[in-house]
Amino acid sequence: MCGIVAALAARNVQGILLEGLKRLEYRGYDSAGMAVLENGVLERQRANGKVAALEEKLDQHALEGSIGIAHTRWATHGKPSEVNAHPHLAGGRVAIVHNGIIENFEPLKRELEADGVVFESETDTEVVAHLIDRAFAASHDLLAAVQSVLARIDGAYALAVMHADAPREIVGARKGSPLVVGAGIGENFLASDTLALLQVTDRFVYLQEGDVVRLSDAQGIEIFAGGEPAEREVHTFEHGDGAASRGEYRHFMLKEIHEQPSVIAATLAGRLSGSHVLESSFGVGARALFERVRQVHIIACGTSYHAGMVARYWLEKLAGIPTTVEVASEYRYREVVVPEDTLFVTLSQSGETADTLAALRYATSREANGARGYLATLAICNVPGSSLTRESDLSLMTQAGPEIGVASTKAFTTQLVALMLLTLSLRGTRGDERETALVQALRGLPALLEQALEMDGPIAELSEAFAEKHHALFLGRGTQFPIALEGALKLKEISYIHAEAYPAGELKHGPLALVDADMPVIAVAPNDELLEKLKSNLQEVRARGGELFVFADESVALTAADNLRVLHVPAVDEYLAPIVYTLPLQLLSYHVAVLKGTDVDQPRNLAKSVTVE
Ligand code: G6P
Repeated sequence: MCGIVAALAARNVQGILLEGLKRLEYRGYDSAGMAVLENGVLERQRANGKVAALEEKLDQHALEGSIGIAHTRWATHGKPSEVNAHPHLAGGRVAIVHNGIIENFEPLKRELEADGVVFESETDTEVVAHLIDRAFAASHDLLAAVQSVLARIDGAYALAVMHADAPREIVGARKGSPLVVGAGIGENFLASDTLALLQVTDRFVYLQEGDVVRLSDAQGIEIFAGGEPAEREVHTFEHGDGAASRGEYRHFMLKEIHEQPSVIAATLAGRLSGSHVLESSFGVGARALFERVRQVHIIACGTSYHAGMVARYWLEKLAGIPTTVEVASEYRYREVVVPEDTLFVTLSQSGETADTLAALRYATSREANGARGYLATLAICNVPGSSLTRESDLSLMTQAGPEIGVASTKAFTTQLVALMLLTLSLRGTRGDERETALVQALRGLPALLEQALEMDGPIAELSEAFAEKHHALFLGRGTQFPIALEGALKLKEISYIHAEAYPAGELKHGPLALVDADMPVIAVAPNDELLEKLKSNLQEVRARGGELFVFADESVALTAADNLRVLHVPAVDEYLAPIVYTLPLQLLSYHVAVLKGTDVDQPRNLAKSVTVE
């Protein structure tokens, strides 16, 4: 949550910072601000609302400066308002932008107030600004001042700081929230993610937990860990800058839905041999380690959690491996019994979700595991260099490319592909008939998804039946139950229609009471062993006058009738059906949201990367 961008250059940086904020807006969009420093004078502009509101202000009064910091906010301490928007200043000399939460800000604030400091905002960040101001007055060294203040604060942060008396320096730090350094030619940058900076560079240093960085004219980029200079590798970003623009599409979400065939092909590339999955894709030593796995614990949040739920069906049925799946925010606070030889798997698009990261740290801490502990940790993640991948023993990168729409689409289906690769790798029956058939089916998946995308027109038409509704019910069975959950989540997130999902067999145990003509019921019905059972559940809905919308395999004999609309989905191997059936549900929520006129890419109250608890 919250996006940071900072630049130290020899040219005016307003345009770079503004473009960076636009690209980071998915991280938070309730207010935005920018400060620049020129000839020892700090100037600032802030606006409540989206980055466009800040842009309007900058059009009226541009900022001129070759060093600056900027921020887009997702409120935690203090309501969204111009006064609470970052950058925060102290003494007219310090400017700071911050992502995260300072947990001990209250005692620090009381201490400063007792000393005569008057606060302008309700934020925890302003406390840090004042502490740095005081520390700088003593040392006249911005790096030392920031380091001494970091030693006093608890919580999670990424921050960037400037001081009017250190006119060619920016100091940044990360602990618990992401921050990358962009290495340019004669100019350097900081940002919450690479995407913000692809406009100016493709070379990045991913800061590690606890790192402090100083950008300066004299020394370029200097990184410090535990107060000592540290070396960090420079990575070249290879996806190009196309991800940052919507291209011909009206929304990023629609673009990302349509990218699924190609990013799934990219996620499979180099990971399949003729008849089996190459276990080495998971890292050095993965094959030997996988042979020892007897149990799997999967942890994730949001959409990623739904991917984990699908994987449980696969791992138990195809690999015979007992699997549990849990949301990270629950797992991290309970006593966990870890059976011998359990693999701990985290799923996360961003690799920075606070609860998932905390769950990983809990899983690897002695207190969670007693003497035994997990066999190993594996992260399935979409962001190279993210905290989750760095802190896990093994990782598999999905190749979804940057995902900008807050509602996750291509990240989810690439996670499912990665989880199928994991399932096949854990079966221990390399290249047998079943694996060979599934490897074949995986290869055909991108083409099948292209066909599924052709349902766009009919789905757009269908969506009209939803625009006036206030509630919707999604049904599925087996691996399609998590897909129904994901379909309901998408509809909630972007159209604000209250949607719930049930395993269809549970309908009669409660939710059937809700079914009437005002409650559309959406069912996913591939041609699998549960089809006949699902059909009976659908009859239960029809008998109560409910309006049914069924996404069914083309071979399923279901004829449209009053209150029953059927959309055919291309025939697919039953194991890969959850991936294919996700697409029509994504398209449905997209078109309903467009009809309702909501902010599809940046739905209210949400943020893409939830880096606070
Ligand atoms: C946020 C996003 C969701 C996402 C979840 C987990 O809530 O809005 O779309 O599924 O975080 O994110 P992760 O990056 O860990 O997959």
